[in-house]
Amino acid sequence: MIILAIETSCDETAAAVLDDDRVLSNVVWSQLELHAHWGGVVPSIARRAHEERLPAVVAAALRRANLTNSSSLSNLMNSVTTIAVTIGPGLAPALEVGITYAKKLAIQYHKPLIPVSHLEGHIASLFLRRRPGVPYLSNLSNLNNASNWLSLIVSGGHTELVETRRQSFVLAHRLLGQTMDDAAGECLDKVGRALGLGYPAGPVVEKLAAEFASKGQTLSARSDLFKLPIPMERSRKTDLNFSFSGLKTAALRNMGNVGDLTKQDIADFCASFQEAVISGLLLKVRRAVVMTGIKTMLLSGGVAANNELRQRLRQLMKKLGGQAFCAPKKFTGDNAAMIGLAAQWARTRGEIARKEIEIEKIDRLPNLNFSD
Ligand code: KG4
Ligand code: ZN
Repeated sequence: MIILAIETSCDETAAAVLDDDRVLSNVVWSQLELHAHWGGVVPSIARRAHEERLPAVVAAALRRANLTNSSSLSNLMNSVTTIAVTIGPGLAPALEVGITYAKKLAIQYHKPLIPVSHLEGHIASLFLRRRPGVPYLSNLSNLNNASNWLSLIVSGGHTELVETRRQSFVLAHRLLGQTMDDAAGECLDKVGRALGLGYPAGPVVEKLAAEFASKGQTLSARSDLFKLPIPMERSRKTDLNFSFSGLKTAALRNMGNVGDLTKQDIADFCASFQEAVISGLLLKVRRAVVMTGIKTMLLSGGVAANNELRQRLRQLMKKLGGQAFCAPKKFTGDNAAMIGLAAQWARTRGEIARKEIEIEKIDRLPNLNFSD
């Protein structure tokens, strides 16, 4: 099955073509440079950029997939079986651009349209293949042996814990916990911005924390250099939600006058701060494993690019007698390849619009409601 997938939920304009779980093309046009000046994603700018760029991104994805010798859009579209589009969660004005364009293509070229959850997309990012039998994730076969798993999805917009159960190839997801205020990536970005690290600050925080590490000291040994609270350390033992605004406020207060900080101070601060974010995430991971008894943990989303988080999650899961699987770095940020694979999962649940009237009805999700 050839799927054309479209993703515009935040600040990446993305399209991909898949042949089942195999990525034939994956085009992402980031809007980072448009939003960097504002220190975060500006919805009206995102909408405008998606509108301007999406047709070219879709055409590029179709051409790069080498579906036919022809490069005309209508010939390429004839080779597509189904179209898929992200319907949320995400920024409403941004989502609407992708949904409107996907509907237009589906109706014009008489293709079914699959509405896809962005979160299911992040989970699917671990299961993509380069070629038949060649997954991006080297140990995918181990993961495929699991029928139930937990996912930690961490990005600039999301911090979620999701439980997935697989029954004869049909996946059912249940949201176990989510952030009640800032997402983990948002907290990294806002504090990093105050430190003058630019946007997005997550990768810079990671780099500084590692690069400037004091000689002979490990990151965790240096973590008490600036005292920061571990988010929700004292929350109820069954609480799987997250909260990062308290850490953000404490970090902004504790850093003092940034002008007085040396480069080494900033690096030390980054190490402490990153440590607090990771500890806050792992605290809830541990609880979720204990509460559900599920010992397979998947990590995805933009913050999943963080090496320290990947390593610490792997260590924790090993200690708990389980195993962690981290999304291939190529697919941690928002992309449409993951949406194309999640669409095929959604289709097994009958989530596909075939008639024009059904396609017209597809709308963005105000919130993601994974069923209980
Ligand atoms: O998934 P993504 O590209 O977009 C959203 O849906 O938000 O995630 C972007 C987020 C930003 O907050 C960014 O700072 C964070 O992921 N991020 C990182 C790293 N790379 C990206 N955070 C920590 N360490 C990284 N290496
Ligand atoms: Zn995302």
